[in-house]
Amino acid sequence: MKIIKVKDQFEGATVAFDMIKDGMANGSKTLGLATGSTPEALYKEMVESDVDFSNMTSVNLDEYVGLKADDPQSYHYFMKEHLFNEKPFKETFLPNGMAKNAKEECKRYDEILEAHPIDIQILGIGENGHIGFNEPGSSFDGKTSEVNLTESTIEANSRNFSDISEVPTKAYSMGIGSIMMADKIILLAYGPKKAQAIYETVKGPVSELVPASALQVHPDVTIIVDEEAASKL
Ligand code: GLP
Repeated sequence: MKIIKVKDQFEGATVAFDMIKDGMANGSKTLGLATGSTPEALYKEMVESDVDFSNMTSVNLDEYVGLKADDPQSYHYFMKEHLFNEKPFKETFLPNGMAKNAKEECKRYDEILEAHPIDIQILGIGENGHIGFNEPGSSFDGKTSEVNLTESTIEANSRNFSDISEVPTKAYSMGIGSIMMADKIILLAYGPKKAQAIYETVKGPVSELVPASALQVHPDVTIIVDEEAASKL
């Protein structure tokens, strides 16, 4: 694992975007994208750049179950607002939160992942070490699944909803096994609330109790952290 310490999320965005541009110059065609406040500065930098993404494909990590694509709290909406409206990609994929049959939706998404191997995967991290919505205890071989969100994730994500009761309790998430198939992984983490998760990811044992610790055995992971997120390393 390569750790890069940055001043703040803006410097982190520049470092991550440089890596993406290098990848694109070397033939990367598919980006794995994440939501949450962490990658916002990166998407802003992508939007403000003159880089053309119209030959690129994106595959997102996850989506809340029960939210329509045009619901402002959905990850579909987030991605349009922060990136795709301004920078159209050739194709963009997210799980369908309104799918009637969960099993079929997971199968559909796994087929998408098979057809579009991820060159560069962007990740944030949950306070409990989750990646995508793979909560502690998720299998390291996991494929796309419908997951029950933990209390701590529901509470952490409630800041984006007007009331905690509105936070969906389930989500579709790409599995850790699929995340680990990406050629290159860039994990971003900022702020003191991420310090413990970053410590356990980098220094702790590789354990399904800390989903991001799986990254220790991936051959090409870069972790971009600010001082606060790196404070326990
Ligand atoms: C959600 C997303 C994750 C994200 C995490 C942290 O749970 N499913 O992909 O990494 O939130 O979000 P934030 O970046 O807002 O701290």
